[in-house]
Amino acid sequence: MTENVDHDLKVSYTRDETARQHFVSGMRSYILNHLAGNLRTVYAKKVEPAFKNKNKRAPKTAPEIHKALKDETVFKFYSALRCNTQEMVWRSVIPGVEREVDELAMRAKVLNQSDEKAKGTVRTDPKLQIPRNVSELDVHLMPGGYHEERVAGDVSQGAIYDNGLSVFAMGLLGPRMDDITQSVSTFFAKRYPDFKPRRILDLGCSIGHSSLPWKERYPEAEVFGIDVGAPLVRYAHARAQSYGVTAHFEQKDAENTGFADESFDVIYSCMFLHEVPKRGIRNIFKEARRLLKPGGVMLHYELPPNKMLTAYDGFYLDWDSFYNKEPYYKPFRDMDPEEECKVAGFKTSKFFQYVVPSMSFYGEKAVTEAVSHTKTEGDSNVGRFADGVRWYTFGAWKQ
Ligand SMILES: C[S@@+](CC[C@H](N)C(=O)[O-])C[C@H]1O[C@@H](n2cnc3c(N)ncnc32)[C@H](O)[C@@H]1O
Repeated sequence: MTENVDHDLKVSYTRDETARQHFVSGMRSYILNHLAGNLRTVYAKKVEPAFKNKNKRAPKTAPEIHKALKDETVFKFYSALRCNTQEMVWRSVIPGVEREVDELAMRAKVLNQSDEKAKGTVRTDPKLQIPRNVSELDVHLMPGGYHEERVAGDVSQGAIYDNGLSVFAMGLLGPRMDDITQSVSTFFAKRYPDFKPRRILDLGCSIGHSSLPWKERYPEAEVFGIDVGAPLVRYAHARAQSYGVTAHFEQKDAENTGFADESFDVIYSCMFLHEVPKRGIRNIFKEARRLLKPGGVMLHYELPPNKMLTAYDGFYLDWDSFYNKEPYYKPFRDMDPEEECKVAGFKTSKFFQYVVPSMSFYGEKAVTEAVSHTKTEGDSNVGRFADGVRWYTFGAWKQ
């Protein structure tokens, strides 16, 4: 089940562990497809009519739907199973990582020091103040979060994230689990064929699967990834070296990077902003604008904003904010991306948003076709791990 982890930091799992990972992945699929379908049916056939009867109107917002549904047995069953399965995702991969903790640190060290296959760099900063959104909670119930270290040169949180994501994603993120950035960067390169970035920065890069596709798209460019987690940047760099991709990783806070003014052409992030409080997002957008050269672009893959979705789809996505240790998920989705870009100093006329089809699901042709139309309205598959997944992207150009 961790076959997506096909580089030199691969953990060897026993057959029992692998069987468990398959079970957990299958369980997730059952919950997100069958049980989620049952939840919707109970809403449509029972809860919504009862609400209409009482209030003489349909529910208008996601919180109204949440309130109306949360005492239903099907909601409790769905939520309990989903929470437990989320914990099981991590538990299914942790034993192998713990067993190999020293060996993984050693392998990462060798890869990080070698320049045989690639010439990237990695730098950690033991003095970096870890922001509270990372240090104070195990985001999405992942034990140890993104930053904890147990041994010198530890990479185990990177290994837990990488292997856990493989179980979690149920094969929907492509062979290297980089489908989002493969799709988004392909779309972007096709949509702006004359734009040739020289320096690209990925914020909150974790293990680098959102950074490396940019090097494929723009081989001439220098690609950088930053993250506050030291184990993650060590892992990201070792992974890149193992794949033979040159990229540079540093342990830095995206709110205050220390990079020079106007030093990048693209500032990108993937699945990052919804884990940051609103004040932090505002700082990050300002920092991005400072870092961009004139004519450069800030670009984010994210969960779609609530205003783009129906109240039910908004409720469905907001579930994580209440039950999956993702406290910033809903506040982020309640924000207006266009307004936030404006607050950071980007011109409204330079704002854009797109919905990009998943390349591993629909193929590159669908991405090429999507370039010719700028459909941005939501549907129930935008941002979800579901059949027919599509990715929401927004950003702004700096003049
Ligand atoms: C969900 S992960 C996204 C990872 C990756 N971009 C991907 O596509 O899978 C969010 C990452 O943001 C990092 N992070 C959170 N706050 C940060 C900050 N202020 N500066 C830099 N990284 C941060 C976390 O450590 C974590 O690795």
